[in-house]
Amino acid sequence: MKITVVGVGHVGLVSAACFARWGHEVVGMDDDSRKIETLQKGGVPFFEPGLPELLDEVVSAGRLTFTTDIERALDGAEVVFVCVGTPPLPGGGPNLSYVEAVGRNVAKHARTSVVLVEKSTVPANTGARLTQVIAREQAGLDSPVSIDVASNPEFLREGAAVQDTLHPDRIVYGTGSERARDALREVYRTVVEEDGMPVVETDVPTAELIKHASNAFLATKISFINAVAQVCERVGADVDQVADGMGFDQRIGRQFLYAGLGYGGSCFPKDVDAFIHLSRQVGYEFTLLEEVERINCEQRNVVLDKLRNELWHLNEKTVTLLGAAFKPGTDDLREAPALHLARMLLEEGATVRIYDPVALANVKEELGDAVELFDDPIEACRGAHAAVVTTEWDEVKAIDPQALKDALAYPIVVDGRNALDGEALAAIGIHYQAIGKPAPRASA
Ligand SMILES: NC(=O)c1ccc[n+]([C@@H]2O[C@H](COP(=O)([O-])OP(=O)(O)OC[C@H]3O[C@@H](n4cnc5c(N)ncnc54)[C@H](O)[C@@H]3O)[C@@H](O)[C@H]2O)c1
Repeated sequence: MKITVVGVGHVGLVSAACFARWGHEVVGMDDDSRKIETLQKGGVPFFEPGLPELLDEVVSAGRLTFTTDIERALDGAEVVFVCVGTPPLPGGGPNLSYVEAVGRNVAKHARTSVVLVEKSTVPANTGARLTQVIAREQAGLDSPVSIDVASNPEFLREGAAVQDTLHPDRIVYGTGSERARDALREVYRTVVEEDGMPVVETDVPTAELIKHASNAFLATKISFINAVAQVCERVGADVDQVADGMGFDQRIGRQFLYAGLGYGGSCFPKDVDAFIHLSRQVGYEFTLLEEVERINCEQRNVVLDKLRNELWHLNEKTVTLLGAAFKPGTDDLREAPALHLARMLLEEGATVRIYDPVALANVKEELGDAVELFDDPIEACRGAHAAVVTTEWDEVKAIDPQALKDALAYPIVVDGRNALDGEALAAIGIHYQAIGKPAPRASA
């Protein structure tokens, strides 16, 4: 099929490359000319494991090209995927103006009938809005083409995006016409035949809602275990063992039951917020999700309190954050808990150092000279009064305990991801604290 992907960011670029891998002829369009230039020169604008190799393969096979020109991008397209951002608005809810802009552009410039598929995460009923916008834009045209709107939410995880897209747990699409349904069946035919994953075919608002409900549920799991961790700390229980014990129950599952600094990233915070906002708009107060958000924000204070307990005043103390990215495997800093923590520490007068294996350039863009940047975790800890594990990178988990102790001015480690071997650190005299766990015996 001839497929156009509008917005070649984390979702659009990976999707475009995977569509091309499945044999489709794909054009990636973006209005960021720097991004398109990078891609045309064979570069990749962000860090994502496996993506450079996949792009090499499909671009050199001539199945994926890039442009900033929407008319060229739409030439002959049968299916157009909308993969633009839906960032949060200051007053809550997502900014859907980029999605609307694509709808208007497609209405104006498509010369043949197309299926327009929302892959961006949008609130239920965005499809109806898009259909309305398209009809209005086409009102003045001589011979408007038919444009069917569909929803095909994306569930990929940054850091595992290529694998997740090539081998998804399930494919969900919502359509309002046979033509749109058949087009989406054809887009995914190869991978469904090869992998045999479940396909959920629904109407458009149901598919839209599946995405918000999924992310809200995963965020709820994280906040739930963080709340359990609070109780664990007060009764002397170990939250990781509690999660193990719960997780073997197949109705519960172990995934996302990890206590720590809380969730971040470009999706969970904004999607939970968007779901609360949508519910309110339609007359339902989703207070459960408000609490999920509150618990998530509170986790940064939990870590800060542990530092205050250890260091008394944070003013003029040097604190090293081990990890900046919101999770391992990405250089994405959107809503990264480490950045929130860095800002809170700076406000208290601390000197903040940050180690990250891939995200330092982005940290520099976010925080400028306010923090010191390191590409070596031990050097980042040299002379610091405490280290905090903020991202569970393999490089952080592999830190040699003795080298860490020798580097730190005070042997204090707060593990905001429960990622290190606390017993091993405590055994050599590091004062180690995790989230929701008793202090290891040697450091108690
Ligand atoms: N990042 C994830 O892990 C993930 C996972 C699932 C779903 N999503 C959803 O997918 C959507 C995209 O997320 P992302 O992380 O890829 O965002 P991104 O910011 O990485 O990419 C968005 C791209 O859209 C481009 N763009 C914006 N307006 C445009 C326009 N009018 N025409 C052409 N290009 C335009 C931007 O230049 C940018 O390159 C969001 O709705 C997000 O919630 C993201």
